[in-house]
Amino acid sequence: MADLSPKEIKARLERSYDAIADTYNAWTVNHPSSLRLSYLDRLLHLLQTQDSPDESHTGCDKSALELGCGNGQPILQRLFSSGLFSSIVANDMSSVQLNSARSELEAKHDNVQSEWIHGDMTSLSFDPCSFNIIIGLYTLIHLPRSEQLLMLEKISRWLKPGGLALLNFSKEDTEADVIEQWLGRKEGWMFWSGHGASSMPGLIQKVQGLEIVVGEIRPEDEGSADVEFYWVILRKIAIS
Ligand SMILES: C[S@@+](CC[C@H](N)C(=O)[O-])C[C@H]1O[C@@H](n2cnc3c(N)ncnc32)[C@H](O)[C@@H]1O
Repeated sequence: MADLSPKEIKARLERSYDAIADTYNAWTVNHPSSLRLSYLDRLLHLLQTQDSPDESHTGCDKSALELGCGNGQPILQRLFSSGLFSSIVANDMSSVQLNSARSELEAKHDNVQSEWIHGDMTSLSFDPCSFNIIIGLYTLIHLPRSEQLLMLEKISRWLKPGGLALLNFSKEDTEADVIEQWLGRKEGWMFWSGHGASSMPGLIQKVQGLEIVVGEIRPEDEGSADVEFYWVILRKIAIS
């Protein structure tokens, strides 16, 4: 892996997710939808109840971005159904996954303006202060870790003041974790990376404009410490 550039890593990941989309989608139904939704509920509750310098957080005219949305289950599905968002942008670099999310959700929710952007999240470009919420679950972990920090800076720029981000990161400090055949699929080459949960609070605090509202390690399945991630809810500080 040390020989692969970030571009090559992403090209291999794109091919893998396109190839194993069916296997991943079947597996992820039980791994761990309830945890993802419980954090999403916390985020939406905060969004609706916090004192905000920006009144756009309190109406139903909000905007959301999901990075690495996969097939849209369960997060996009919940965002579209919530009645809170007038516009939703979904991104994934797997066209198979993005098309699957789009064909399931776009027509059913034509009251919400949606945009479906295929490609690497580090290449996305939005105006500053574009979104009330940004979500990226089990997806920034696929970026080489230096790019994870660059993404945090972009997320900070793209959030409106008072806006919230829900993200998770590797608990372990690992430059490159590679599995050749993830989920038992021979096309399932995988790469993960991370600074580790103990370093993340300090690194996040260095990103201009973000404060940590929630930062905690959680096991994937309650009662099991086999696989754990560092979950955060971040708030964009209003800069006066
Ligand atoms: C483990 S899946 C998670 C999908 C979804 N967020 C979920 O919670 O089930 C990772 C997703 O991130 C996407 N992904 C990985 N690297 C990406 C990148 N650099 N830009 C955009 N999407 C990426 C993959 O194609 C895949 O759909």
